[in-house]
Amino acid sequence: MMIERILVIGAGTMGRQIAMSCALSGYETLLQDISEQALTAARTDLEAWAASRVSKGKLEQPDADAALNRLAQSTDLAASASTADLVIEAAVERLDIKEQIFATLGEHAPAHAILATNSSTLPSSRVAAASGRPPQVCNMHFFNPALVMKCVEVVRNEQTSDETVEAVTAVATRLGKQPVLVNKEIPGFIANRMMGAINAEALNLAHAGIASIEDIDTTAKTALGHPMGPFELMDMVGLDVIDFIAQATFAETGNEADKPHPLITEKVQAGLLGRKSGEGFYPYS
Ligand code: 3HC
Repeated sequence: MMIERILVIGAGTMGRQIAMSCALSGYETLLQDISEQALTAARTDLEAWAASRVSKGKLEQPDADAALNRLAQSTDLAASASTADLVIEAAVERLDIKEQIFATLGEHAPAHAILATNSSTLPSSRVAAASGRPPQVCNMHFFNPALVMKCVEVVRNEQTSDETVEAVTAVATRLGKQPVLVNKEIPGFIANRMMGAINAEALNLAHAGIASIEDIDTTAKTALGHPMGPFELMDMVGLDVIDFIAQATFAETGNEADKPHPLITEKVQAGLLGRKSGEGFYPYS
């Protein structure tokens, strides 16, 4: 099927960069959020990002202008849904809110539209029924920062059709991403499970006083070739997000090892959420 118009729901960190990726790749893109303020903040941020790419010589000014012109915004979900070929939902990680969104999409999106969720904690089977069109629903999981990271996990649920998987995979490829297929829903999919294992070990090493967080990060970078150490990465993702992912995974698996680590709980309770709050494992100016 031909996908030309993409609706991205949620103008937060992930949604705004997913939307910009779509616009840069030539899709008519609509970014929807219930908050006008969030849409304005996203626009300002993306304009600054585009200007910085142009000044670095990595993006031509006409291409930046064309992408920003292809990127519209709206607070009206029903109207936004009515013209979409593909919806990528990147709203807040709450089942009740996502169910409402998918019910609205089911009612207002064109019959052919594919409905994907960027959620890393809620498998698409949880929202598929609300949409009334389960074969057209899957997860399309991007990584932070979404304008940079190549991987997109395409996660099918038991009812997802082959056509849906093919269409979403083709979009990810046109975005310049590397799609990977997750054939069966599993908490954390692939990447967050691996990240969780590394983070758990790093947290245990630090908690036991085996090494400092700086030296653990240095080891990950200089011995394993990771672009960031686990503590730097957790600060970038947000310690509240790391905590939420662990809680959601524990709720699914019941496995004690998946519970949020005490070091994370301590930081979150102290309001130290990482880069976004000015301090996490490291201070940020
Ligand atoms: N937004 C947009 N672009 C960004 C960015 C951001 N927040 N941060 C960095 N960039 C861009 C820079 O502008 C630069 O672009 P350029 O090369 O075209 O000039 C490029 O990324 C490289 O940035 P820097 O040179 O400043 O720094 P690094 O080389 O260290 O790269 C990084 C930064 C891309 C973030 C790199 O450190 C990295 O890959 N880190 C690992 C990120 C990661 O693991 N993400 C997954 C998190 S898990 C997740 O998202 C799942 C979810 O469910 C929680």
